[in-house]
Amino acid sequence: MLRVALLGCGTVGTGVLELLSRSSLPLVVRGVAVAHLDRPRAPVVSPELLTDRPFELVSQSDVDVVVELIGGLDPAESLVRAALEAGKDVVTANKALIAERGEALLALARSRGRRLLYEASVCAGTPVIRAARALAAGGVWRLAGILNGTCNYVLSRMAAGMEFDDAVRLAQQRGFAEADPTLDISGRDAAQKLVVLVREAMGLVVPPDAFAVEGIAQVRRGDLLAAREQGYALKLVAVARRDGEKLQLRVHPGLIPLGHPLAQVEEELNALLIESDGTGEVFLRGRGAGALPTATAVLADLLELMTGAGTMTLATPARLSIVPHGEVRARRLLRIEVADELRAVRTLTDQLAAAGVSLDHLSAYPVPDRGTVLTVLTGRAPGANLANALAALVRADLCTAPVRSYLLEELGEEGT
Ligand code: HSE
Repeated sequence: MLRVALLGCGTVGTGVLELLSRSSLPLVVRGVAVAHLDRPRAPVVSPELLTDRPFELVSQSDVDVVVELIGGLDPAESLVRAALEAGKDVVTANKALIAERGEALLALARSRGRRLLYEASVCAGTPVIRAARALAAGGVWRLAGILNGTCNYVLSRMAAGMEFDDAVRLAQQRGFAEADPTLDISGRDAAQKLVVLVREAMGLVVPPDAFAVEGIAQVRRGDLLAAREQGYALKLVAVARRDGEKLQLRVHPGLIPLGHPLAQVEEELNALLIESDGTGEVFLRGRGAGALPTATAVLADLLELMTGAGTMTLATPARLSIVPHGEVRARRLLRIEVADELRAVRTLTDQLAAAGVSLDHLSAYPVPDRGTVLTVLTGRAPGANLANALAALVRADLCTAPVRSYLLEELGEEGT
């Protein structure tokens, strides 16, 4: 019988207790640490298990495993350290903790002969971490994912006509969004998940602030429709692409060809495409947020502790370099709001030509009271060249709103 202590009893903690109450797994919960003893709780939470002394709970001698479900770095990090130092295995759903402090905590766990497992930290019950580990030995060279359920939900709802703020509110009500939804909307949540996956799949340790991260706050409904007209879905994508010692990493609203399985991931669903030399393409899609999907992953880790399965990590090459975003060659869809259409088009075409960026498509739609929205599809070019051309447009005072630029992910059509 595995003896478990839970830290935190919010959405996920309650979900873990709910699943345990329905199962016959050989697990017993010894205690549940909470910040507020007197808060109303679901019937599945036995009041006699509650304590507001988490440090005492994690070092109790009748506890084998500590499950950390508090989130954030403080006090979660100190508690996980205390648990490992007290000789307990640890299971956590905390992606910030694993992305920011994973190496140090894994080293501590190893030094104490304990395990630290975190399947629930990325895509909840959709087992992307196990899949990434399983494929790592075959040389993973690309990860492309939709890793944030809230953003995918908001973009799906906007495409169906809902306002941005209403869609965010609905995601909060449905339990997908973080306590602070700016973590979702800004792309930081997806960036933390990408960092965790890069370590599992590629064996590479990168900090979450070492690459370009852009969220969905600037996306307008018209951008989603314009992308679709050009044959693409506009999604918050997280991409890691390894080419020898060069590593591209990015999280941003990007374009996926409509026929690609990633383009068909709607609402709060998550998905991950893993491409490796050994296995080719593996695609996973499923629920990546919410109480029971996340609790399922927590229980999967507890079962792994009971059955003793192993994990693998690879050494990071000393010369690995992260490719600056401006050097990434790609096609891009631009949405540019202008008042003087003729002058803007002339300046834009001149500047794109001067920057060596070809123009594959240009259309203009009048928008009542806002002038004209230009939709531009460029040829493949480094992002920095395009940024120079767009800066000239802004300098000439031709734009009435910030230019939106969406990178087109050339999944399955490399090098065209
Ligand atoms: N806020 C996260 C999401 C929850 O929307 O994907 C799961 O990490």
